[in-house]
Amino acid sequence: MTEEELKEMVLSNGTIPRHIAIIMDGNGRWAELRNKPRVFGHQHGMHAVRAVVEGCRELGCEALTLYAFSEENWKRPRGEISVLMKLLRNYIRRERENLRENGIRLQCLGRLEKIDPAPRKALEEACLYTADQTDMVLNLAISYGSRSEIVDATRSLCREAAAGRLEAEDIDEETISNALYTAGLPDPDLLIRTSGEMRISNFLLWQIAYTEIYITAVLWPDFAKKNLFEAVVDFQKRDRRFGRVKSKS
Ligand code: IPE
Ligand code: IPE
Ligand code: MG
Repeated sequence: MTEEELKEMVLSNGTIPRHIAIIMDGNGRWAELRNKPRVFGHQHGMHAVRAVVEGCRELGCEALTLYAFSEENWKRPRGEISVLMKLLRNYIRRERENLRENGIRLQCLGRLEKIDPAPRKALEEACLYTADQTDMVLNLAISYGSRSEIVDATRSLCREAAAGRLEAEDIDEETISNALYTAGLPDPDLLIRTSGEMRISNFLLWQIAYTEIYITAVLWPDFAKKNLFEAVVDFQKRDRRFGRVKSKS
């Protein structure tokens, strides 16, 4: 099926995921298959980023969360990290106008204080530049670790309690959700991981309690809009029971 046909199918099938999260994996292997350095894969991965942002907007999703750089990725060679940060900065510079024109608000999730001043400034400026957009949220998870996110949330709740503004008994699931970097967003309905790895790699551990998971062997630089639509078609066939019994048809 063509990309257009798939899109029509998704739109006529029914439920569109409100929030899609993607673990963009496989750039290094994509480059190695071509006998190129790993960073060549990261460069090509940027086309796929553009495609999924556009695809989610076309479907009318409320939020797209992209795992761009994990806390653990700081352990990679310095050269690879610096290329990734440069690509990120270029992406932001090039796309911020486009994001705003398309009603997309950029938001960053993660410990940004670890990022060098230049890319950090570009990110923060782009977030401000798109702050009043309301059609879709694009979350870039950068320097992101889900366990750190939970640690940060716990610290902020403890501070509230110590200041006498929060009682232990008043803490519920909503309190915790609202203390995470993703506060205010619905939990992801669909989590996509490219490159075939069957793991979560410290991504959105709290938020994916009932998320549908879709793993594809496609390597991230090859992931096109068509692949996104295929993932959503698959999602639309799932029976989401949330612990209940299957509803009678
Ligand atoms: C994903 O591709 C990009 C980042 C983690 C930043 P990888 O760089 O992990 O590529 P593989 O998994 O080694 O192929
Ligand atoms: C997860 O991919 C992080 C991102 C996609 C940004 P990794 O390649 O770092 O994960 P592992 O090491 O295979 O678990
Ligand atoms: Mg990887």
